[in-house]
Amino acid sequence: MAELLDATGSTDTRTDTGSDTATDSAVERAAAALAAGKLVAFPTETVYGLGADASNAAAVANIFLAKGRPPGHPLIVHMASASDLDRFGRNVSPLAHKLGAAFWPGPLTIVVERADSVAPETAGGLDTVGLRVPDHPVTLQLLNEFGGGVAGPSANRFGSVSPTTAAHVLDDLGSVIDFVLDGGPCAVGVESTIVDVTGPVPVLLRPGGISAVEIEAVLGVAVKDGRAGPSRAPGMLASHYAPNVSVELIEQSEVDDALAVAGATGRPVGLIAPDVRGHSPSWQLPADAGGYAAQLYAALRAADQHNLEGLLVVPPRSGPLLDAVVDRLQKAAAPR
Ligand code: TXA
Ligand code: MG
Repeated sequence: MAELLDATGSTDTRTDTGSDTATDSAVERAAAALAAGKLVAFPTETVYGLGADASNAAAVANIFLAKGRPPGHPLIVHMASASDLDRFGRNVSPLAHKLGAAFWPGPLTIVVERADSVAPETAGGLDTVGLRVPDHPVTLQLLNEFGGGVAGPSANRFGSVSPTTAAHVLDDLGSVIDFVLDGGPCAVGVESTIVDVTGPVPVLLRPGGISAVEIEAVLGVAVKDGRAGPSRAPGMLASHYAPNVSVELIEQSEVDDALAVAGATGRPVGLIAPDVRGHSPSWQLPADAGGYAAQLYAALRAADQHNLEGLLVVPPRSGPLLDAVVDRLQKAAAPR
């Protein structure tokens, strides 16, 4: 069973005295484990990642084994600072440097040409790599202490819902990984935005915590939507981020009719919505997409604890994260 390393102390401002020896030693042990080629799950502002030394092909192979992830699916490399762009990337364009300066640390992954300091296996054999500086104090400390790049997909079994707490990680992977560094619940709650800047035009591969509009405002050029057509991102599948229960996406105005139809079949139907209208079992999430995103994956996991006939989900109403949340809900509802 994975050992839980508690680093929640440093994120608790009420007791922050500038140093926290419990957190320091948790982070030191996690960094030593990474250096020894072990797997360490770590907190970020988006979701928990499953970390290994990005330069160590054998360690990275264990990530694919633990997740049950096909080997051709590239991993993101987490770095301590934007100045590492030229260390893990090669021929890095001015567009990438502008984005790193504007949004890191933060929920943005930038795809650039891969430098030799990243093992080919980490990038699923591609000559490009996704790089990101996560905005989480514990993991920034871990990256500084470790001193290298940390390959890290979301710390869940392949195809299922990403973890937003250390307990979620233990539920999914506790029996097959070495350590979980607990930094508390993730603030954003959905995965990072991925933008490819290996060509002349930036291409959005996955919507996330930073919107296309924000990226366009910084770069002064239009971002191409790379989600339509043949996928340029191996591992971007139509069905993903899915709980075990089958999900149906509906509008708030359709809730009463949908529940009436569903109620006829016997087993209960769950509801996730900004307004759950007293239904049980249900999970009421904020109408604002940011608040909704922070609680969505925990709600999907909780719904799977009930023996449901199906799960009805109403999207949030508005907010900068709407595109990212709707993308994840469509993937959760896609035919398996
Ligand atoms: O927020 C996040 O990005 C989280 C945290 C842990 O950082 N990580 C995450 O990793 O969501 P993962 O492996 O679950 O999703 C990363 C996706 C891959 O499925 C792949 O489609 C895309 O990033 N990707 C990675 N490297 C790429 C590359 N070189 N070219 C195109 N897409 C890439
Ligand atoms: Mg994932």
